[in-house]
Amino acid sequence: MRHKVLGEQLAQVDNPDPFAPPVWRSPVHRTPEPVIWIVQLVRLLLRVVVFVLRHPYLDLAAGTVVLVWRTGGWPAVVGLAAAAGSTLGAWRWRFPASFWLCVGGPVRNRWRWWFYRRRWQAVLTIARLVPLYRGRLLVPVLGAVDASRYADRVNVTLVSGQSPDDFADRAEKLAHGFRAYLCRVRTSVPGTVVLELVRRDALAEPIPALPISPHPDLRVLPVGRCEDGTPWLLKLHGTHLLVAGATGAGKGSILWSAVRAMLPLMAAGLVQVWACEPKLMELAFGRSLFDRYGRYAADPADIAALLEEAVADMQARAARFAGRQRDHTPTTEHPFTVVLVDEVAFLTAYQADRKLKDRTLAALATLTTQGRAVGYCVVAALQDPRKEVMNIRNLFPDKIALRLDEPAQVDLVLGDGARDRGARCDEISSTPQIGAGVGFVRLEANPDPVRVRAAYVSDHDIHAMTGTYTNSGAGPSATASGEAA
Ligand SMILES: Nc1ncnc2c1ncn2[C@@H]1O[C@H](COP(=O)(O)OP(=O)(O)OP(=O)(O)O)[C@@H](O)[C@H]1O
Ligand SMILES: [Mg+2]
Repeated sequence: MRHKVLGEQLAQVDNPDPFAPPVWRSPVHRTPEPVIWIVQLVRLLLRVVVFVLRHPYLDLAAGTVVLVWRTGGWPAVVGLAAAAGSTLGAWRWRFPASFWLCVGGPVRNRWRWWFYRRRWQAVLTIARLVPLYRGRLLVPVLGAVDASRYADRVNVTLVSGQSPDDFADRAEKLAHGFRAYLCRVRTSVPGTVVLELVRRDALAEPIPALPISPHPDLRVLPVGRCEDGTPWLLKLHGTHLLVAGATGAGKGSILWSAVRAMLPLMAAGLVQVWACEPKLMELAFGRSLFDRYGRYAADPADIAALLEEAVADMQARAARFAGRQRDHTPTTEHPFTVVLVDEVAFLTAYQADRKLKDRTLAALATLTTQGRAVGYCVVAALQDPRKEVMNIRNLFPDKIALRLDEPAQVDLVLGDGARDRGARCDEISSTPQIGAGVGFVRLEANPDPVRVRAAYVSDHDIHAMTGTYTNSGAGPSATASGEAA
């Protein structure tokens, strides 16, 4: 009978083959228990020292608490906590912006970092993002976390040999693993990725019409909200905008939100809106605004004439500016002119009168190619973004894609690879409450599409706008003059 089974013998005992040659194993040396204790204690000590060195603010706070406790006992510590709490409360109440910058934001970032840190290795391992190399598991490194009320941006350093696509393929697993509603993979510097994990959908509810700023800037007009809860700022000055979306996608809310944001400038004479609407169902509701601060046309022949007049004005302005200035600044003499065309496909593709169609197309192409620098901007909305329908699609530098019927249409609007980068326009709900006005936009500074929702300018809001800006004399900002944006 054996009392003690050693490693070598165990190998022999476990061998089922009686004729197998003997297998030699290295002898097992048992580490004495006190040595294990000492090594673990030294490790712990080192970790504590590193932690203390890395967290000077925490050391300061802990030191202060200990000092106060030693001098004044527990009542003093309670008093200190109450003073600190009320100071922070007052700071947050009086100066919320600086409070969030200095305290709230960093604390939230840290808290979210801990959240990811706790689950990091398990989630990445199960999602098969932890490769094995020479017997060692290599875990991508969790970097800084930038958290907002709705989403977290998690910086990750890749293991050598991994690519952002490896993460993009497993985005759904990561989203579920980190209890997020959605995970998008953004590329940044080589060797790193940013995981954009959306915790709460900031766009789930319709957004009511935004308040009208008294001094709007044509480069950053607020028209809705981005997915991270920040305002969606639309640039009109110096660009042209194409809005594509299936029927009922909410194109009207973008057109009206832009008009609403520009109202004070329209009233001041610095902006004119020339509205063209063959369908008669959207802009006609606020026609008095366009009649007063621009132009309005609904009949295709009138629209062609209006667009040609815009071209003539634009060319006259260009001839006047030639050699004198390269950029346009809106003035009452030379206002910024927005040519708003709803259902543009009706004019450029479905129009039976070929002559009218060619005239409209030529005018739109001239405005979009030459108008930018002289203060002309074309904003066009359409349902079907195919080339046969809108062959001057590429003359619009900025594009917004709302709900679309087919996945292939997304790249037609936003450019190649947009759908792979997360612009799932075909998956936007067709229920107006949930999906109308929701879309994707590629912002100038960022090639990755950003999910946005336009504020909903209701009939009541339009009625109020026309009432305020057309009935009461010259409108609320009629006295404003000078230059804008
Ligand atoms: N931003 C929004 N938020 C919430 N609901 C909206 C929004 N925009 C539009 N809706 C709702 O969706 C409906 C359809 O919107 P809208 O008429 O603007 O769509 P559209 O894209 O112009 O469609 P069509 O091409 O048929 O004219 C509206 O009647 C309204 O109820
Ligand atoms: Mg419409």
